[in-house]
Amino acid sequence: MKHIRFILFLVSLLCTGTSFAQVSMTLDATQRGPMTSPYQYGLFFEEINHAGDGGLYAELIRNRSFEDSDLPVNWFAVGNTHLNIIRIGLLNKAQNQALQVVFPSASKKNPEGLANEGFWGMKFVKDSTYHLSFWAKAIKGNFTNHLIALLQSSDGHTVCGQTLVIGKIGKVWTKLSATIKATGNSDNGHFVLLSSSKGTLDLDVVSLFPYTWKNRPNGLRPDLAQLLEDTHPRFLRFPGGCYVEGKENYDNAFQWKKTIGRIEDRPGHQNLNWGYRVSDGLGFDEFLQLCEDMKAAPLFVVNVGLGHGYVIPLNQVDTLVSNTMDAIEYANGPVTSKWGSIRAKNGHPAPYNLKFIEVGNENYQNVSKGSQSDDYPERYFKFYSAIKAKYPSIQIIGNVEAWGTDHPSWRNHYPVDLQDEHYYRSFDWMRHNYRKYDTCNRNIHVYNGEYAANNAGTYGRYGDMNSALGEAIYMLGMERNSDVCSMASFAPIFTNVHNPAWPYDMIHFDAAQSFCTPSYYVQKLMPEYLGKQNLLWTETGNIKSCVNTLNQVGVGTWNTQASYKDFSVTGESLNVSGSVKFFKNSKRTKGTNKKKLISFSITPQILSANKSWKDLSGLWKVDEGMRQETANMEKCLSVNDQRINTQHYVYSLKARKDGGKEGFLVLFNYKDAKNYVWWNVGGWRNTSNGIEICKDGATYTISSSRGSVEENKWYDLKVDVNGDSIKCYINGKLTNSAVLPVDQLLYQSVQIDETNGKMILKVVNPDAQSRSLNMNYKNMDVMSGQVLRYEGKKGTDENTIENPYHVVPGKMMTVKDVYHLNIPAFSLNFYTFNISNIAPQTNLSK
Ligand code: AHR
Repeated sequence: MKHIRFILFLVSLLCTGTSFAQVSMTLDATQRGPMTSPYQYGLFFEEINHAGDGGLYAELIRNRSFEDSDLPVNWFAVGNTHLNIIRIGLLNKAQNQALQVVFPSASKKNPEGLANEGFWGMKFVKDSTYHLSFWAKAIKGNFTNHLIALLQSSDGHTVCGQTLVIGKIGKVWTKLSATIKATGNSDNGHFVLLSSSKGTLDLDVVSLFPYTWKNRPNGLRPDLAQLLEDTHPRFLRFPGGCYVEGKENYDNAFQWKKTIGRIEDRPGHQNLNWGYRVSDGLGFDEFLQLCEDMKAAPLFVVNVGLGHGYVIPLNQVDTLVSNTMDAIEYANGPVTSKWGSIRAKNGHPAPYNLKFIEVGNENYQNVSKGSQSDDYPERYFKFYSAIKAKYPSIQIIGNVEAWGTDHPSWRNHYPVDLQDEHYYRSFDWMRHNYRKYDTCNRNIHVYNGEYAANNAGTYGRYGDMNSALGEAIYMLGMERNSDVCSMASFAPIFTNVHNPAWPYDMIHFDAAQSFCTPSYYVQKLMPEYLGKQNLLWTETGNIKSCVNTLNQVGVGTWNTQASYKDFSVTGESLNVSGSVKFFKNSKRTKGTNKKKLISFSITPQILSANKSWKDLSGLWKVDEGMRQETANMEKCLSVNDQRINTQHYVYSLKARKDGGKEGFLVLFNYKDAKNYVWWNVGGWRNTSNGIEICKDGATYTISSSRGSVEENKWYDLKVDVNGDSIKCYINGKLTNSAVLPVDQLLYQSVQIDETNGKMILKVVNPDAQSRSLNMNYKNMDVMSGQVLRYEGKKGTDENTIENPYHVVPGKMMTVKDVYHLNIPAFSLNFYTFNISNIAPQTNLSK
């Protein structure tokens, strides 16, 4: 911890540094930090935005089992054919519906048929082989050797491949298969099945597969799977997210046992969370196989009986626990075990080495009931104790608050291996949280399971360099603190451009192509340049600015009515501007050099004159010297027009809640409608007090404590702003304190690999000016180096489907001078130095 304090000390000393200062770092081989984690960076896959069906899962036919609707959606009649959904005489119990096709007048000369449009088209590549299979039953007529399968361009004019389906079709369900070699290309094709014989035919589970990644049966789309493997993931979390929880009832959640075995035995389910039905073709075994193929440790997230809009009572959770035990046995058990033998039957006798189980997804909000959180700790412990008793080496991940706070915590006495924190924030938040874990409790292990700089309005169209650099900075902070932050995964990965339910993702694709956002390249490069042990450093000149000047104060409410009075601002060296004098000039206390804080109260007259206040939102009135907010709206704000030009001021006032759901908003350091700080007293439905920053329109919390506000009671509120240090008091008692985040010029992380004689320095410059970085090395010799850069011309640079390679990583270059580095604007730099004469560690690392 010492090194961090030292760095912070330097930071505070240098708070007045200008943005043109040169940054210097001193690296000392004897001063080491924690070892990086073997699971530092991984992937989080969720079936969202058609990430799986219509995405990573290579199946080309959409609605292959005719279960998606009461109508044969995504299928079309070709010629005079009639298509009808049927529910009798079905293939098996997993199938609830099939398709009956009537070919009224089909003949060799005039075949009739049906077509499938795929997931917004299908890609056919000349000379590639496509594998067709389907189940059929002749109800009337003779279809044996009368069915022709075609790959067609979307306008139907070009046949990209065709074959006659050979095989007897009788009165019982029969599986037929065929291969089709493409003779042409199409990016937007469709599949057609024609009959040259009339009659009635029942069809089910019509499947068409292209070549799959690593040639796996029922496998993955090669280009998308390869992009995943290229990130060198150390683990894969699956199958979600909210997708694990399901919506409305448990039937709509992923249930692993229904996702293994032959595809015709998988019923599929409604993915109501993200608005489409899934085939479950991408099932438990396929996820495990993907992990094995990428050499990533499997991390399976299980349902704890809490979903979106439903709860399975705590006393019925044992079934879910035993499902989880069976899942572990399926993945890891010997072939002699019940579920291990089923795995072997499914083609994988060797265990998959399932390593992590996450118990629930976002199921532990800070509420006693509701918010998908009912009895979470008790549920968690049922899973934990059963799993650890039989599989002690499996690591168990617990949920903590997933929204509403930047300081989630494990608020129960049960043991847990890691806690899963989720941060969907702005890139500014990511920068300011570079030091988030520098000072935290070192006894916890954190898995940043979902994070992205995706705050609406801040990331461009798909995600720009600013966002990606913000994420990179946050990752640098995590890896510097790898003793605490031992796992992390960006979220979500994929979006089909035709169904962007969650618009900020790192890989966008359609049926034919894909492009990656800058976030993807950051995710790809950061694990590639992860050294073994963190190296500590000291630095100078690395502060951009840290104090807001010319601030205003104000008040506000959130779905609450409140009255405020007796405002006062006292300060040091106060200068004022504006029409109404707000402060008196500062006085010096005799005999000392110290400036005295002097106070000035806005008089009731000024309040009733209402001159110095500007109401930004809400319904404000002035009554007997009080400012009263009377509307029941979110974010009602009123700001005093006086500008405060000092680094140290104390803002106090009295506040009374008159009605509504929350408490008070005390506004300070206000610059404009998008940049301010407020102290939220009795916020989060009157459960907590927090200091929240709004920077360029993106809001986040930097301090949080429990607390609530009673109605019809006057509270004395005081905010002491001393440069970047904030202290907030209710009735004289300190309830919140925080240090305002400091903008650095550069953000770094350094690791050393003694065995290979390498040192890796990663540096982000998130700003528009290039910077010079001077390097000093102690207790090692730095001989030479190379650098690879990921760099934009503008922070708003991004890749699009039209221009997919606009911002991509550059080529490796030799570092000419290892003592003076140039860090270009908007860049992430990966330096690899060759080092020798490395002195051993002498400090005690974390
Ligand atoms: O990643 C998208 C969603 O965000 C996940 O499903 C959920 O866990 C989180 O709220």
